[in-house]
Amino acid sequence: MSSAVTPFSLKDAPALIERLLPVQKLSTEAYKEQMAGSGKTLTALGSYWKGRKPLILNKACILGCLLPTTDNPARDLEIFEKLMAMDDESFVVRWKSRPKPREILAKLSIQNIEDYFQVEPTGVLPASAPIDWSNKAYEVVKVKWRDDICELERRRLEAQMLPKTSYRERVDKAQRPEEVMETVHEHIWGAVNMHLGTSAKSFPELIEQLGIMRYGHRPRLADTFCGSGQIPFEAARIGCDVFASDLNPVACMLTWGALNIVGAQKNTFQEMERTQQQVIEDVHSQIEHLGIEATKEGWIPKVFLYCVEVRCPESGWMVPLLPSLVISKQRSSQARNVIAELIPNPEMMRYDIDLRSNVSDEELQKAMHGTVRSDGRGQETYMFHKIGARDYQTKISTLRGDFRNSEGTTSNKLRMWEKSDFVPRPDDIFQERLYAIQWIRPNGSGRNYSYEFRAVDQSDLDREIIVCDFVRENLLKWQEFGAVPDMRIESGYNTDQPIRERGWTYWHHLFNPRQLLLAALLNQDKSPISNIGISRLVNANSRLSRWDNVSGGGGCVQAVFDNQALNTLFNYGCRSFRSSTRIYAKKVNSSPVFSGKQRFVISSSATDRNVGFDLAITDPPYGDAVKYEEILEFFIAWLRKNPAKEFADWVWDSRRALAIKGEDEDFRRGMVASYKQMTECMPDNGMQVIMFTHQSGGIWADMANIVWASGLQVTAAWYVVTETESALRDGNNVKGTVLLVCRKRKGHHKTTRDDLAWEIQEEVDLQVRELTGLNQIAKGLYRDENVFEDADIQMAGYAAALRVLTRYASIDGRDMAAEAIRPRVQGETTFVDGLITFAVDTANQCLVPHGIQKSHWEKLNGAERFYLKLLDLEARGSKTIDNYQNFAKAFKVRDFQSFLASKKANAARLKSAVDFGRTEMSEGSELHQSVLRAVLYAIMELVKEVDSAEVLAHLMLNIPDYYGNMTQRDLAVELADYLAKHLEQLRPDEAAAARILRELVKNQRLG
Ligand SMILES: C[S@@+](CC[C@H](N)C(=O)[O-])C[C@H]1O[C@@H](n2cnc3c(N)ncnc32)[C@H](O)[C@@H]1O
Repeated sequence: MSSAVTPFSLKDAPALIERLLPVQKLSTEAYKEQMAGSGKTLTALGSYWKGRKPLILNKACILGCLLPTTDNPARDLEIFEKLMAMDDESFVVRWKSRPKPREILAKLSIQNIEDYFQVEPTGVLPASAPIDWSNKAYEVVKVKWRDDICELERRRLEAQMLPKTSYRERVDKAQRPEEVMETVHEHIWGAVNMHLGTSAKSFPELIEQLGIMRYGHRPRLADTFCGSGQIPFEAARIGCDVFASDLNPVACMLTWGALNIVGAQKNTFQEMERTQQQVIEDVHSQIEHLGIEATKEGWIPKVFLYCVEVRCPESGWMVPLLPSLVISKQRSSQARNVIAELIPNPEMMRYDIDLRSNVSDEELQKAMHGTVRSDGRGQETYMFHKIGARDYQTKISTLRGDFRNSEGTTSNKLRMWEKSDFVPRPDDIFQERLYAIQWIRPNGSGRNYSYEFRAVDQSDLDREIIVCDFVRENLLKWQEFGAVPDMRIESGYNTDQPIRERGWTYWHHLFNPRQLLLAALLNQDKSPISNIGISRLVNANSRLSRWDNVSGGGGCVQAVFDNQALNTLFNYGCRSFRSSTRIYAKKVNSSPVFSGKQRFVISSSATDRNVGFDLAITDPPYGDAVKYEEILEFFIAWLRKNPAKEFADWVWDSRRALAIKGEDEDFRRGMVASYKQMTECMPDNGMQVIMFTHQSGGIWADMANIVWASGLQVTAAWYVVTETESALRDGNNVKGTVLLVCRKRKGHHKTTRDDLAWEIQEEVDLQVRELTGLNQIAKGLYRDENVFEDADIQMAGYAAALRVLTRYASIDGRDMAAEAIRPRVQGETTFVDGLITFAVDTANQCLVPHGIQKSHWEKLNGAERFYLKLLDLEARGSKTIDNYQNFAKAFKVRDFQSFLASKKANAARLKSAVDFGRTEMSEGSELHQSVLRAVLYAIMELVKEVDSAEVLAHLMLNIPDYYGNMTQRDLAVELADYLAKHLEQLRPDEAAAARILRELVKNQRLG
């Protein structure tokens, strides 16, 4: 324990996160981390886990809860940014390389070079910089930093060399703070300790001291919905004691792996890697002994390609089901176009499959159409083949024998596989066939490989028989030992698919004999690292692993969970031993967490009694599109019977009934039970940050209810963008994260709705002013970008509203905790909904864009406000789609997408007047008969050089009550002026037209 700090000196101090958080910068950093893909620190443990919360975001939350606010918010912010490695001096280290002294002297103005550098020989260089090094006389000069110049001073000088760009551009080019974690913070401790009264030289020391100042001991953090462990890992890495739990054992395993494998000390980590290599070597000898992977003149197999084969009911022929005949599509100089050719074999009434390499683009194009086809969206897929001149087509549903059963649902004639099955039986509808093999051979240098695809020959088929025989002999034994699943697939939204489409009823049916054999042999080892490796392997090597004929330089096997469904496939890739072990023993980064401190991982429901903690940072499954509880059974099946001893106490079942999911009554009840439990386990000065994705308008009321009923009170809320473009493309709804900061609600305060209205208004106003003010202070001090953008301020408005509301236990005589859990009647607007709507409207009123009078703003409809507000943001360079989504929600715009010309995640844009053309004028549009729409229409006409008299005539027609109500005309002038100013840079032609319109209307004589 440190003697430098006084226990409990910060016991009741407000936390930094309750007052400020640099959300813009944080969003940029979080985005960078999300875009790192497989380079993310914990992803290598299991890329199948989607929706990881960025480590940098988690760190900000933990620090934000522990740090106090002082009466100098600008300095608080500066210190926080130093701790987050967001300051200039940290960027010196985050930059790809640091500038050399000669480079510094060439660029910076330095009055006395010798204040920083040692120059030899002396007397050659001038006293001050910049230096022109092209001078031949300077060639002999050697410059180095003076030994007595401390790291901070060096960094300060080097920071002046950084390009003066926006924060986003800077982050784009820099490394993530965690990539340079060991050195990046070296310069900050003097300033940090001075500000906080601590004496730390590292994160663990600082965290311990802050913990002592708040709680009397090192802070203990809990995450009871820990998922892949992103929050507990970051907490442990910076020095907290952690308690992590999740209902799902696979989540617990990933969290354990984060803390004890990625987070292991170097020697333990290496030891684990060695054990894993030993397992691989043992299995390798068994594979060699069996002779199931041939070596032919230095070539070894990499991928075996299998497809479903079915008998055509019309021709009686066996037909391989291949959606495309393209095996490999050239993308690199090494790869070649390879296609499969179906050669009719009338004698056997089937097709031989040959492969052709180096085919022309035209042939490749033709081969894209295989034997499984569809005539477009919504059309049923069918099997297609041709014998002689005759085409044969049969719907896949017909092949399966789909029919309506007596309960009115669809059934089919597929045989349900039994526990002992692992290949189709001879009379099954769907058969399986090996149709090609990818071979590899090291090139001369031994560094790269040559690839080749070959058709299957008899010796390959003979080896298939060996594999099947071996599996047949061992399956039962493996299942009994727990090396292969023996678990039934329980019916569910995702899990019904393999049952319905293939008749697979046990989890091991999702794997072919080769895949079972390899996984079973590797799964004999029951160490944690092996359990994690097996999970990774089965995700990458199953009958659901798609063969991607383009990626990976000529084709690769994609993972089952590259989307979140259990989609069955007509053809798939099966990895060889070598390719499988690369996945099984995938290299994970080492990032040791603070050693010797407490770390628990437990598989329990968040509704169960927890251990005590000081801080809880949780990311509950709010409105989660991912059905973790179902899809993770895919992995549980492999591990549950005989997991590593470290995982043996966990419940190896998905416990679907206990999983919190959806957004309905059960969800709310589960959430309240969990958060109530957590609230009881924290001290009076404990804090919680609840993360949730910002999706629908109803969420605020939901969260208010949950917080209320759990005995918590909101003290702040922030919005951080965590979206990536690919997430949007996938139709994934995860866009940004709201951080709801809560404390225990104390006392039993009462109020009335009327008083609340005033209080909310004051609080929202105050909050908006405080953040805008902080923007100004920060600007004046040291930066040229806003700390908070309008969207953040708006979010703070919501937060202010929740803060007021959740402070009270009773409103108008109603007990709010009871009100919060009252079942909802569909379509009903509850008391809480009404309060939230009021609060949101109040917050929006505070955000009138510059250039529009408040009295005019109040008259505009939501769609007009949306357009004007977003144009204001666009003019200031903002382009992220979540802004559009958030403001659309705020202004209650139903269909904001029809106002956008681009919906890209980071390049979104409103439609211009010309883009709108004549659209959005009719009754169905939210801009119908609005002054803004009329003004945009007139601008469009002026750009198209329509006569000005005609433009005015149309404007008068398009604006209702143009003659009767003078304010309509004033508003048109104001909007034209606003558009002229905001479009100056964006669309100069429309800006000019807007100026003309403004003058035309101003000077127009009526009557
Ligand atoms: C959104 S995820 C957490 C993701 C995590 N923060 C990450 O970064 O990977 C929600 C988690 O809640 C878990 N969960 C659902 N119901 C639960 C319950 N009743 N008790 C505990 N955990 C539960 C799910 O298994 C899932 O792992």
